Amino acid sequence: MPTTAEPDLDALVEAGRTALAGARDLDELRAAEQAHLSRRSPLGEVQRGLGQLDPEARRELGHRVNQARTELQAVLAGRRSELEAARDRSLLEAERVDVTLPGRRPPRGAVHPLTRAADEIIDIFVGLGYRVFEGPEVETDWYNFEALNFPPGHPARSMQDSLTLLDETRPPGWLVLRTHTSPGQIRAMEAGPPPLYVVVPGRCYRADTPDATHVPVFHQLEILAVDEGLTMGDLKGTLLSFARTYFGAERDIRLRPSYFPFTEPSAEVDVSCFICGGRGGDCRTCKGDRWIEVLGAGMVHPKVLANGGYDPNKVSGFAAGMGIERLFMLRSGLADIRTLTDNDLRWLGSV
Ligand code: PHE
Repeated sequence: MPTTAEPDLDALVEAGRTALAGARDLDELRAAEQAHLSRRSPLGEVQRGLGQLDPEARRELGHRVNQARTELQAVLAGRRSELEAARDRSLLEAERVDVTLPGRRPPRGAVHPLTRAADEIIDIFVGLGYRVFEGPEVETDWYNFEALNFPPGHPARSMQDSLTLLDETRPPGWLVLRTHTSPGQIRAMEAGPPPLYVVVPGRCYRADTPDATHVPVFHQLEILAVDEGLTMGDLKGTLLSFARTYFGAERDIRLRPSYFPFTEPSAEVDVSCFICGGRGGDCRTCKGDRWIEVLGAGMVHPKVLANGGYDPNKVSGFAAGMGIERLFMLRSGLADIRTLTDNDLRWLGSV
C-alpha cells in the first residue's frame, strides 16, 4: 500500500472486526489477531508508514490508527473472553461429576459353587459326628499307594495315572500329587488312636486329558470310621443318611460288589435316580437304569488298619470316597465338568 495515499482505515477496521468477532475458537482468534493487528497486518503497515509523513499529517493519521487499533483490541478482548468461557464450560461439562449419584458398587465376590457343595457335604458328615481332617496334596508313594495295599505294579501307580514330582535323591515316582484322598486314612490313623470318625476333603490330581467328565485337578471327599465292632451295616446306614440329605429324603442306595485294594469287601454305591424317582423308563439322568453310581466304599482292609498303627483284631472300620465335582454335577444337572473352572460369571452368578 503506498504510504502517501490516504489509507481506508474504516475498511480495515471493518474487515478486522468481522474476522475477530467471527472466530469460532481460540486458534481462529489468534490467526485473526495476527492478520489484523500484528506489525505485518495492513494496519501495522499504515502505522509503520507514519514516520514518513510530515508532523501534522502524522499526528492526524496516528490518532486515527490508534483509534482503529483500540477498537479492534476491544473486539479481540471481548471475543477472547467469550471463547475462553465456552472452552471452560465444555471442559467442565466433560469432567462433570454428579456427587448426588449413588456410588458404583464393586462386584461382590461369592463362594464358588463347588466349594459350597463341598461345605454342604462336609456339614452332613460333621452332623453325623465326623471331624474334618486334611492331608497334604504332595504325597509319598507310601501314603498314596503302598500303605493302602496297592499291589506292586498296580496300574494306578504308573506315570500314566499319577503326576509325579522329581526328587533327585529318590527313585522316580517316590513323590506324587495325591491321586485320591485315601492317603488321609493312613495319616488320620497315625494322628490319634481309635475311635476315629473323619471326613477328609481335598484336591486330587490325575494325568487325565480334560473332557466333559474329567479334569486333571479335581476334588474328593473321604470318610473313614474306625471303632470297635463297626460293620457293613454301619457303612450302609451312614451312606443312606448322606444320600437322603444330599439328594432328597425319598432316596435309596444300593451297594454293588467292587474292588479297591484298601477295602475288603469293596462296593460301588448307587443312589436311586433323583430325577425319575427310580422309575427308569426314558430318564436321561439315569439312562433308564433307575440307579446312579455316586461313590466307592468298603470295609477298611486289615493291612491298612495295621499300616495306620491300629490293631485289626481290636477295631474295624469303613471308608468311602466320593468325587465332589461328580456329586455337584449330578444334583445341579451340569453337563460339562470344565464349566466349573471356566470362570464364566454368567454361569457362576446363576447357580
Ligand atoms: N480312593 C478311591 C478312588 O479314588 C475311592 C474309595 C475311597 C473307595 C474309600 C473305597 C473307599 O477311586
